[in-house]
Amino acid sequence: MFGLKLLIFISTVHYTVSGEIQNVSNIKVTASGKCMTSSKVMNVLTLIGQKQCIRKCLQNHQCKSVNYRKKQLHCELIAAKYGESGTSLVLDSECDYIEMEDQPQELTGSCKATSCKEECVPLSSGKPFCVNGKCPTGWQIIGEKKYCFVNSPIKWQAAKASCIWMEAHLLEIESEAEQILIQNKASGDRWWMGGTDEESEGTFIWVHSNTTLNYTNWLEDEPNNGGTGENCLEILSDGLWNDNKCDSSFYYICEKMIK
Ligand code: BGC
Ligand code: CA
Repeated sequence: MFGLKLLIFISTVHYTVSGEIQNVSNIKVTASGKCMTSSKVMNVLTLIGQKQCIRKCLQNHQCKSVNYRKKQLHCELIAAKYGESGTSLVLDSECDYIEMEDQPQELTGSCKATSCKEECVPLSSGKPFCVNGKCPTGWQIIGEKKYCFVNSPIKWQAAKASCIWMEAHLLEIESEAEQILIQNKASGDRWWMGGTDEESEGTFIWVHSNTTLNYTNWLEDEPNNGGTGENCLEILSDGLWNDNKCDSSFYYICEKMIK
């Protein structure tokens, strides 16, 4: 009994002091107790830990998912993910199926954990490379896009230019699903998005896509073109939308598709 308590004590301490073990708990297993069958298995790495398996996949541009076989410590790198043609999930208690786009940013490159606060690109050599002029707070992969939440207030035009500098564009919310994802991350602050009615008062467009707004989430009585005129679109701290003066300075959100 005492032995058991001691064991629990030691493992708890080890868990909290060791960064390595805490990181492992951040891995998101897409389907536990299942393996994906696919013709697109690129490589099988043996005697490798689960975290290392995910790192290997993240370092390979073609790798989208892995099957990790816990008993054999086998790692299958796969150039497909579940849902693509020719894939299926099968029950296998020894297996975890893990998709890369579900994984937290810290795992996407070791430079993230050291000096690089910006985007970390895996080179073909497997080494991480830190790119400047990229998202200052780190890209967040949510759904099908990467988002950068920049918490320095600037005018709408400057925010638009800043996103382009990051090889991205100001946020365009295209659906209720995306609205909910953004709202959960952006609550508590107000942010510029990529909508404007500068060209034609009352007709908002997404400036990057050059399309009219399909989905909208206006606050009641907005857009009202208030004061001396309001032509730029912001998302408020509760997720509702408002038109505001483009010369006001707010935080902003950039987005780009996951390559
Ligand atoms: C109005 C908004 C307007 C904002 C400007 C609010 O009081 O309701 O329509 O955009 O002021 O800061
Ligand atoms: Ca307004």
